[in-house]
Amino acid sequence: MAERKRPNFKCLILAAGMGRRMKSQVPKVLHPILGVPLINYVLDTVGTLNPKDIFVVIGHESKLIQKELQSSPVKFVYQKEQLGTGHAVMSSRDHFKNYKGNILILNGDFPLITSKTLQSLLRQHTENKCSVSVLTGEVENPKGYGRVIRNSEGEVVGIVEQKDSSREQKKIREINSGAYIVNSAFLWDSLTKLAPNNSQKELYLPQIIDIAYENNKKIGVRKLKDITEILGVNTRSELAYAENFIRNKIVSKHIQNGVSIIDPDSTYISPNVKLAADTTIYPNTYIYGNCTIGTNCTIGPSAWIKDSMIGSCVTVRMNCFIEQAQIKNNIMIGPFANIRPETVVEDNAKIGNFVELKKTKVGPGSKVPHLSYVGDATLGKDVNIGAGTITCNYDGVNKNKTIIEDGVFIGSDTMLVAPVKVGKNAVTGAGSTITKEVSENALAIERSKQIEIKNWKRPQKKK
Ligand code: UD1
Ligand code: CA
Repeated sequence: MAERKRPNFKCLILAAGMGRRMKSQVPKVLHPILGVPLINYVLDTVGTLNPKDIFVVIGHESKLIQKELQSSPVKFVYQKEQLGTGHAVMSSRDHFKNYKGNILILNGDFPLITSKTLQSLLRQHTENKCSVSVLTGEVENPKGYGRVIRNSEGEVVGIVEQKDSSREQKKIREINSGAYIVNSAFLWDSLTKLAPNNSQKELYLPQIIDIAYENNKKIGVRKLKDITEILGVNTRSELAYAENFIRNKIVSKHIQNGVSIIDPDSTYISPNVKLAADTTIYPNTYIYGNCTIGTNCTIGPSAWIKDSMIGSCVTVRMNCFIEQAQIKNNIMIGPFANIRPETVVEDNAKIGNFVELKKTKVGPGSKVPHLSYVGDATLGKDVNIGAGTITCNYDGVNKNKTIIEDGVFIGSDTMLVAPVKVGKNAVTGAGSTITKEVSENALAIERSKQIEIKNWKRPQKKK
């Protein structure tokens, strides 16, 4: 098979605006969809097209965005003042100094766009040797978008923003998606011609279309029939719409792959989650971040799982919270368990109701069945932890470790004051406060002697 040529284009994503219409302290492109910032959806889509470079223009709360994208292979362009989308592109000029070729420019608030559409826009642009190409679509309600102006021959002659449009122009239902491919020479030349002669006194990027037309440059237009993917997120209700759309798409994909999802409408799964076939997800469940769940598991209802690995044949019962944990195979968790970061539960273990585990390793076949807090602990294999047991791991300054070796039986309501170790096959008596090491095979019991007061007179109620 012939090796596919790397397409010759670079990409620029505009994300410097504050997103006033979100009414938020958080920059718009960091608002999450299924736990993942808006902008990551655009970046992931663009990434699949394999551009030579991806630049992101940042300005408002730039540090937050930079931090969020620190592990992603993008370069940043800083736009000091947000003087419009055209100005945002101008700010990137120095980063393209020696580059000649096409630049794909996208708004950062554009999470539903697909790589298929961008690919066809690119192909059409290159095949027709256009100076600039723009992606458009016909929408029911064009309010808020830039309108595509065509002449009597149907040629695109420019774009006019909602705020600058006449009454007649407001009726136009063909909108600018905010996705363009521009030849670099034309781009830098046309940007010098932008003028802020509009109601917002901004430099508008779409004006390069008008400039192309005026200068007889070839304009490519790709008009979409299904416009869902070009929906911009400007308000919280558009954010909710986009989340619902992406959520449905992800859930359907898992259902097609053999996962039973009892109520697709109340199941929230992040894009990077991997679920094996024959697993069942009950309603109102959230599976976020980088999670992997094996086959024959039953999850929920009302489970919340993030950044965790779950093996096969695991039952996570109602109302469990699991974060950054590893739950291996054949395990029962919950109901009402809180499994906190750095916890590892080995095969055939059981974690019961109202149990909190933190930074703890539970060995194979071990059980923590009821009402316990186990933190900073290592449990060997076949350990049994009685109901109400607590590892007293915190002395107010340090977190101390508890080590419980293979085969240990911890009696109910044992306080294990860490640092402490309980040796192999040892037993602790119910209600004991264990402060010293317990040796192998011993019974440690710490309890005051039971006394009896004979014929105890109980207080009597007055008649
Ligand atoms: C823009 C287009 C409009 C199009 C719509 C599609 C302009 C002037 N209008 O409008 O024709 O129909 O997108 O969704 O381009 N940004 C910067 N720096 C700035 C200003 C904006 O980086 O100085 C970024 C924003 O963070 C955002 C993107 O550019 O990600 C688009 O800006 P936004 O204000 O949302 O433009 P719209 O009004 O939606
Ligand atoms: Ca927008």
